[in-house]
Amino acid sequence: MDSFLIEGGIALRGEVNISGSKNAVLPIMAAALLTAETCVIRRVPDLSDVRFMGRILESVGAEVKFEDGTLTLRAANIRGFGDYDLIRKMRGSICILGPLLARLREATVSLPGGCVIGTRPIDLHLKALQALGAEIRVAGGYVYTTAPRLDGALVFLGGRAGPTVLGTANLLMAATLAEGVTVIESAACEPEIIDLADFLNAMGAKIHGAGSPTLTITGVKELHGAEHDLIPDRIEAGTFAVAAVATGGEVTLRGARPDHMGAVLDKLQEAGARIQRSAGALTIKGGGLVRPVDLTTMPYSGFPTDMQAQLMALMCQAQGTSIITERIFESRFMHASELMRLGAEIAIEGPSAIVKGGRPLSGAPVMASDLRASAALVIAGMAAGGTTQVHRVYHLDRGYERMEEKLGRLGARISRIPGE
Ligand code: EPZ
Repeated sequence: MDSFLIEGGIALRGEVNISGSKNAVLPIMAAALLTAETCVIRRVPDLSDVRFMGRILESVGAEVKFEDGTLTLRAANIRGFGDYDLIRKMRGSICILGPLLARLREATVSLPGGCVIGTRPIDLHLKALQALGAEIRVAGGYVYTTAPRLDGALVFLGGRAGPTVLGTANLLMAATLAEGVTVIESAACEPEIIDLADFLNAMGAKIHGAGSPTLTITGVKELHGAEHDLIPDRIEAGTFAVAAVATGGEVTLRGARPDHMGAVLDKLQEAGARIQRSAGALTIKGGGLVRPVDLTTMPYSGFPTDMQAQLMALMCQAQGTSIITERIFESRFMHASELMRLGAEIAIEGPSAIVKGGRPLSGAPVMASDLRASAALVIAGMAAGGTTQVHRVYHLDRGYERMEEKLGRLGARISRIPGE
């Protein structure tokens, strides 16, 4: 397993191109299953999650080609079940359920595995599909669904932690081919849902309200192929923005969408960053004192849970104490113990982490545990004095395109050590 070797204490400077959004492309790839015609998706990041999703689509019979950032998908002859071992391994694969059910009226998937950040239930996904008329049976680690017909319905999708992003995606996709009108209340408002709805409407779907908590979908007989340019990855952009502040540098994020990053930019400004917006770019300046901030993760447009670990890495340098509360997932503080190996002072009190900042971090070997925790450890390693080795960076490769190359071009001293 590969690791990153990082020489800390260097301010990042320069420009970085933000890649297409991982969390937009995964459900959009699944949406291509809704038609037998060819779909073309551009600005696709070369991530292991994207390649994995491609293998999952091939396992249900779709043709997948991925070249130079463009995905060409053709789901002409597909079946309602795939390679369970593959499906079980990636949470995002749950969003093939809705399209397969809508297209074939039957689908079987393996229950997605949980992961280190939580149990990741799918009760809301199943409630949604049942509301459209699906019969669901869960047995032996598999979800078996059949639906002689799908009828539009009113579905409230709010769960114990608020809306569900992929649950909204699943229902949205299934509803495009249902008879009649579906209304989704307490739908996820993330930009990735808007991007999915834009793609589905380009395929001939009739969706209104994307980006708001209430979505209205009028079912159609069939969908046709479409082409689509992905939105930029707001979490990759946020990660590089935090890295600029944490190293006291100045970084311009080419292609970022500031309108997708309101909560993160607000917190960075509160922490002392200076932010300049210009056409198609966003410049983040660090260099002054890092001030402590309190934050609570919330559904969009609140502070995103996918940026919580990265902000915690920054707060380790703040002149004072910060309180970071995680309200979306039940255990998303795995990075705290690894940050403490670098000298951070963090106490976990239930859903909150109390970060006593100010003591300089010093390099040490640390272990990545999940995608965003890995990003936090890279940020902390670049801010720390001395050398940090981040092990198991395969977690990072799931969601960041060639991160060490992009950071290297900003002046970071970081190299990939091939694993044993
Ligand atoms: C998406 O996951 C993202 N993944 C996650 O990003 C992100 O953290 C999450 O949304 C929240 O924003 C992709 O888009 C591929 P949820 P998703 O359903 O849809 C509970 C990353 O780092 N819940 O919105 O699976 C759930 O347990 C990843 O890029 C139910 O209770 O998340 C959680 O507490 C990590 N029942 C909350 O809702 C359900 O049926 C939000 O989960 C579904 C979810």
